[in-house]
Amino acid sequence: MRDSLTNQTILVTGGAGFIGSHLVDQLIQLGVKQVIAVDNLFLGKEANLTEAINHGCIFLQGDIEVAATLSFLFNEYSIDTVFNCATKALNYSFINPADAYQTNTNGVINLLEYLRQGQYKTLCHFSTSEVYGTAVYEPMDEQHPRNPTTTYAAGKAAADLAVEAYVRMFDLDAFIVRPFNNYGPRQNYQGQLASIIPLTITRLLAGEAPEIHGTGEQSRDFIYVNDTVSAITQLYDVLPAGDSVNIATQNQLSIKALITELCEQMDYHGEIITKPARPADVTAHNASNQKLYRLINPSITPLKKGLAKTIEWYTLLE
Ligand SMILES: NC(=O)c1ccc[n+]([C@@H]2O[C@H](COP(=O)([O-])OP(=O)(O)OC[C@H]3O[C@@H](n4cnc5c(N)ncnc54)[C@H](O)[C@@H]3O)[C@@H](O)[C@H]2O)c1
Repeated sequence: MRDSLTNQTILVTGGAGFIGSHLVDQLIQLGVKQVIAVDNLFLGKEANLTEAINHGCIFLQGDIEVAATLSFLFNEYSIDTVFNCATKALNYSFINPADAYQTNTNGVINLLEYLRQGQYKTLCHFSTSEVYGTAVYEPMDEQHPRNPTTTYAAGKAAADLAVEAYVRMFDLDAFIVRPFNNYGPRQNYQGQLASIIPLTITRLLAGEAPEIHGTGEQSRDFIYVNDTVSAITQLYDVLPAGDSVNIATQNQLSIKALITELCEQMDYHGEIITKPARPADVTAHNASNQKLYRLINPSITPLKKGLAKTIEWYTLLE
């Protein structure tokens, strides 16, 4: 239904970030015509793209909330498809709630306007499991109500609605992929915006005790990043405009069980520090991936194996 990605010039926003840089690598591996990555380096690092740049990826430091950045890109390159990964990390919404919200909405509105003007053909927008909030029924399929608990997730939910509305109003080719919690190499481990898996691994590598916020009973569905990006490139061929799909393993895991597994793999037998629960923390994410399996044949890396590869990457980083 869509032209093959291999014949296309593709823009990845947030392309120097965690998932974006793996998507760039995957697109290069597929042999697409040209990949362009744009990132304002809020959290992303150009170093995540070193190999990709060596293989012809063009990197531009720029902000997709600034229309002039996008108009430059669309004038300069004949872009066919945009994968919109740009965001500011969920934890940032506790520091600057308005900016976190606005990044998640302004960027996609700009991209939808350029799509409406015919500057490119297809938008693949990245939503998040966070738009669902805590499970009101399980497993959570794509019909689960959107009950965001943070301004990050509220901005993401608004972005989903905007994509759906633009498709209905203007018959555009835009669709939504909705990853659950990703992990793997290159995920941010530094500062206040670090994610739980890289934070725990780097603490253990530094000889520090891991930390759990709240009871540790809160659950997430952890999926290896390579599985996510390969699912997305397959979904590109089959997911209709206006539609959305969860990208998840359908294996929820408590944070306590996750930390226990990391400690086991890293041979740590010491104390685990308990910290107060984070406000607005989602308590249960138990995903349904039935729709994903109806659409494609995803590869799902077993958690133990994915964590081992991730630990190895951070160990080599030290
Ligand atoms: N990591 C996960 O577990 C997860 C789960 C569900 C959904 N997602 C979604 O996947 C996408 C990628 O997430 P990620 O984990 O790679 O995050 P990330 O923070 O590693 O990457 C996002 C990138 O966007 C860049 N960015 C921020 N604001 C920008 C702007 N205005 N213009 C250009 N670039 C900007 C950042 O510098 C960063 O490199 C996001 O849309 C996120 O909501 C991620």
